[in-house]
Amino acid sequence: MPKSFPIAERMAKLDASGIRKVFDLAAAMKDPINLSIGQPDFDVPEPVRREAAEAIARGFNKYTQTQGTAELRAAVGKGLAEEFGWTDERPVLITSGVSGALLLAFLSVINPGDEVIILEPYFVMYSHLVNLCGGVPVCISTYPSFRPDADRMAEAITPRTKMLVVNSPCNPTGAVYTQAELEALAQVARKHGLLVVSDEIYNSFCYDAPFVSMAGLYEHTLLMRGFSKTYAMTGWRLGWCTGPKNVLEKMTMLQQYSFVCAPSMAQAAGIVALGVDVSQHQDQYRRKRDMVFAALARPLGLAKPGGAFYAFVPAPKGQTATQFVTRAIQNNVLIIPGNVFSTQDTHFRLSYATSDEKLAQGLGILVKLA
Ligand SMILES: Cc1ncc(COP(=O)(O)O)c(C=O)c1O
Repeated sequence: MPKSFPIAERMAKLDASGIRKVFDLAAAMKDPINLSIGQPDFDVPEPVRREAAEAIARGFNKYTQTQGTAELRAAVGKGLAEEFGWTDERPVLITSGVSGALLLAFLSVINPGDEVIILEPYFVMYSHLVNLCGGVPVCISTYPSFRPDADRMAEAITPRTKMLVVNSPCNPTGAVYTQAELEALAQVARKHGLLVVSDEIYNSFCYDAPFVSMAGLYEHTLLMRGFSKTYAMTGWRLGWCTGPKNVLEKMTMLQQYSFVCAPSMAQAAGIVALGVDVSQHQDQYRRKRDMVFAALARPLGLAKPGGAFYAFVPAPKGQTATQFVTRAIQNNVLIIPGNVFSTQDTHFRLSYATSDEKLAQGLGILVKLA
């Protein structure tokens, strides 16, 4: 057995103990009803799979340009022009998923001691990456409504505040921010010259109202979207980013010295994906959302989530989320306690990205336990 080796100090700031505990508990489960998964239960659309296979067969297997193929960047750019009415050409960087874009962006922008405002509960990667860069995550609670509050954000601003991270539709809450809410956040960001990172990976999963992007409201937005959720391409590692030119240039340079480029065959297939109609899956997921709401609104007081494929559900009165999740796991249902996504242990995250049958079984058990 090799001797252990001294690890860089920055790694001490990373901690995966919350989620590890859940998976340790889950390890003994046999054929669990898994309502913890953060990826679609449908497969990559067939034309996309076919194009990736054909790209490999025709030898499209080498490095691409660091910033991504001209064809995929043009396809993304065309979509941006249509959606936002932008007439100037925006720089687009193709990344290894939104995760890749987040890492490149944070490393490019955050100085040690810089503060980054994150709305809590949040996708855990944000705080870890900010810490890794030596930055300070400043978490603003959105409990219990999960609506963003611009006044609270304004109160949290200091001379060191550099960035705001917005994630709508939100993982883990499923909240979709309205135009008025985003405009209020943008106003505070504008006043203080902040960069807004808008993680829009769930933009295709909005069930009650059209999706509104921060990028249409605030000029200093670093807009990130991906293929993982919309087209179920989680393992293909493909995303993209657009925003202020100088930030994109630094991110591209860093990509050159790190990821090099996003996978070539995924980029080829990404062009096909952008033309695929996924409305059938959106309808399926809206129905699943409705199933969850119908089952849990009364017994647990769940408010209807508007997007993504998560519900962030209050634990029954008198129990912490961890206690309830432990009981759920003992009863073969895997869900995640809210303290994985925040400092509060009052809610649990349920993913409804699973079959109707499994979802119905899982909901039945949770309702009984509640
Ligand atoms: C809010 C959010 N952002 C980013 C990601 C990472 O996505 P990708 O697969 O594009 O790296 C996820 C994945 O779960 C997510 O939930």
